Amino acid sequence: MDGNGRWATRRGLPRETGHRAGAGAVRRVAEAAYRLGIGTLTLFAFSGDNWRRPAREVNHLLALFEDYLRSAKDECVEHGIRLGVIGRRDRFPESLRAAAESAEVATSGGTAMRLRIALDYSGRAAILRAARRLRENGAVTVEAFSQLLAEVTSADGAAADVDLLIRTGGEKRLSDFMLWECAYAEMIFTDRMWPDFEASDLQAALEEFQVRERRFGRIPTEGDHGCAALLSPAATPAAVAPAPVIPRADHE
Ligand code: FPP
Repeated sequence: MDGNGRWATRRGLPRETGHRAGAGAVRRVAEAAYRLGIGTLTLFAFSGDNWRRPAREVNHLLALFEDYLRSAKDECVEHGIRLGVIGRRDRFPESLRAAAESAEVATSGGTAMRLRIALDYSGRAAILRAARRLRENGAVTVEAFSQLLAEVTSADGAAADVDLLIRTGGEKRLSDFMLWECAYAEMIFTDRMWPDFEASDLQAALEEFQVRERRFGRIPTEGDHGCAALLSPAATPAAVAPAPVIPRADHE
């Protein structure tokens, strides 16, 4: 979700105002994803390296995350959305940790969509966590490591593989986001600043995704068209963005 800072600076506003506007986009995009029938939406809100920002900005962001987790909880329960946080939590203030746990407990029965906020998240750290567990387990084999990686990267039970990664704000990097899970992710980079990202941008990205040819190393056979025909056999329906055409009536 890049571009909050620049969005604000270009308007002569403090960066914090950009993050607040970014929180508005989080609500819009989460609602659009739900209406479009997306199984899992993971939003990269704060990386392990974002602690390097000035304390004032970090504190503002932490307060925004807490506010979001508290205020989105009831709406998620109402719509069957399972809300969760991925990343480490031991560096959070206690109140943010409590807000995350409370949202997760309250929405744990949700099956309509998974909404995950990546906070203090590092893809490398997740891989190293699996390596540490491997050492503790004793059985240092490739199979054991692969199994532990699968456990670590889908610890909350969500499908591990990312199908589509959208990066806003003109950045064209992975920046330590879901390194293992993005092995076969389709990527879309847009210059749109995150606070300006609309439901129509998500819809457009899904439409582009649907005509991408995903081969997973195979040679396409006659009759294969676009990603829908070439989905990984390992991909579960929850990991796959289905046709973004049928709005949910109960959300209109
Ligand atoms: C990176 O771009 C963005 C962040 C570190 C913060 C993302 C936070 C939000 C979208 C706010 C609300 C989030 C939730 C989950 C309620 P940047 O803003 O540093 O942009 P820049 O590249 O323009 O400086």
